[in-house]
Amino acid sequence: MATTASLPAGIPETHPAVAIVAVRAPLQIISVPTQAPGVGEVLVHVLWTSSTPLDLHKADGGLLVTPGKPTVQGGSFAGTVAALGPTDPTLPIPHRQLQIGDKVFGFAHRSEREAGFQTYLTTSAYMLSKLPPNLTLSQAVAVPTNLITALHTITNDLGLPLPWPVPATGWTPPSAIADKAILVWGAASSVGFYTLQVFRHWGYRNIIAVASAKHHDELRKLGAGACFDYHTPNVAEQILAHAAQRSDDQPRIPFIIDCIGSRDGSLRPLTRIAERVSKLAVMLPVIDVHASADVQPKYEMDMGRVLAGEWAEGVELIGTRTHNFLDNTFFRDYLQTEIVPTLLEQGVIQPNKLRVVEGKTLLERAQNALNLLRERAPSGEKLVWRVADEE
Ligand SMILES: NC(=O)c1ccc[n+]([C@@H]2O[C@H](COP(=O)([O-])OP(=O)(O)OC[C@H]3O[C@@H](n4cnc5c(N)ncnc54)[C@H](OP(=O)(O)O)[C@@H]3O)[C@@H](O)[C@H]2O)c1
Repeated sequence: MATTASLPAGIPETHPAVAIVAVRAPLQIISVPTQAPGVGEVLVHVLWTSSTPLDLHKADGGLLVTPGKPTVQGGSFAGTVAALGPTDPTLPIPHRQLQIGDKVFGFAHRSEREAGFQTYLTTSAYMLSKLPPNLTLSQAVAVPTNLITALHTITNDLGLPLPWPVPATGWTPPSAIADKAILVWGAASSVGFYTLQVFRHWGYRNIIAVASAKHHDELRKLGAGACFDYHTPNVAEQILAHAAQRSDDQPRIPFIIDCIGSRDGSLRPLTRIAERVSKLAVMLPVIDVHASADVQPKYEMDMGRVLAGEWAEGVELIGTRTHNFLDNTFFRDYLQTEIVPTLLEQGVIQPNKLRVVEGKTLLERAQNALNLLRERAPSGEKLVWRVADEE
């Protein structure tokens, strides 16, 4: 969107941003112009961000990165409103609800101007949530990316209803689906953690969770009716034995979300679980080879090429792409402005457990977070770190 205003006094013309400069090269700080907000936009002073595996897929795998050009990263942010552009009269929830100084957070991914690993970003007002009074900015920044992933995957990919607002009298899924088995593989991941909480809130009752045994007590509290450990060699057979054998020709587990997308770690066992007409939504990219200090990763974006020939006939494989959630105009208008902050304020959704990544500088914190992702250190937690040093 074209810039229509100049920057207010006190806002720097340029600011530091963390950039990928080459695949698997150390991150660098570059100086980028601070962009005045256009119509319907907001300038945010970024105080906190979170790191996700996508940052590693970009840095080590070159995913969504233009070769030869520094790429500013970061899909989530939390900070304060520094400037407001003119109101966009076409939107039902414009930024007239925001004021300079408001504490906000969000998930944005469309361009580098709205990336989170920089001290100022410019984005649309509908990409922002106001901070609820019961949370800090560092807690809030752990939420939007994967709560939005959960809401998008369940509605868009599995086609299961999550009505909003939830009627005051309560809502339960239609009886034909309320008790169907839903498998959440990788329930201790950030995606899985929010997925379980969403299913619990909307009354889906037959949730099967797969995670390391150390997480099972917590996952039961979040609504998992049964938990299985993916380290057990016959975990797929255990899960199928648990799922009720039906007399009709329905699959034993009609809905599956693979929150991990690992070819060998999650998808190969799922070839033994998914049956004809099971819907299986998979977090892209599929990881053929995980990045490490010595090994370059390999990814696959085309589900048709993943374990081809190993799936039962009629399994519906869906590659999840949360970056498309704005195609749903209801989500564009209400997801970040209303749904995410309301669920948090009501205590329906608890933020991930935090792991605060330390470092003396912006660059050090960003690099330390990336190194932790490479080491596969996060386990039932979200990496969050400070962006701007000053409030
Ligand atoms: N395409 C999309 O729209 C989209 C959106 C969001 C995320 N993603 C992708 O989804 C993946 C997960 O993201 P995230 O942020 O949720 O990751 P995360 O929280 O960092 O994932 C770490 C967790 O993964 C679990 N895990 C690792 N291997 C597993 C396996 N084989 N089976 C079950 N659990 C396993 C570990 O569980 P334990 O602690 O139990 O060992 C750990 O707690 C990433 O690749 C990300 O890029 C894609």
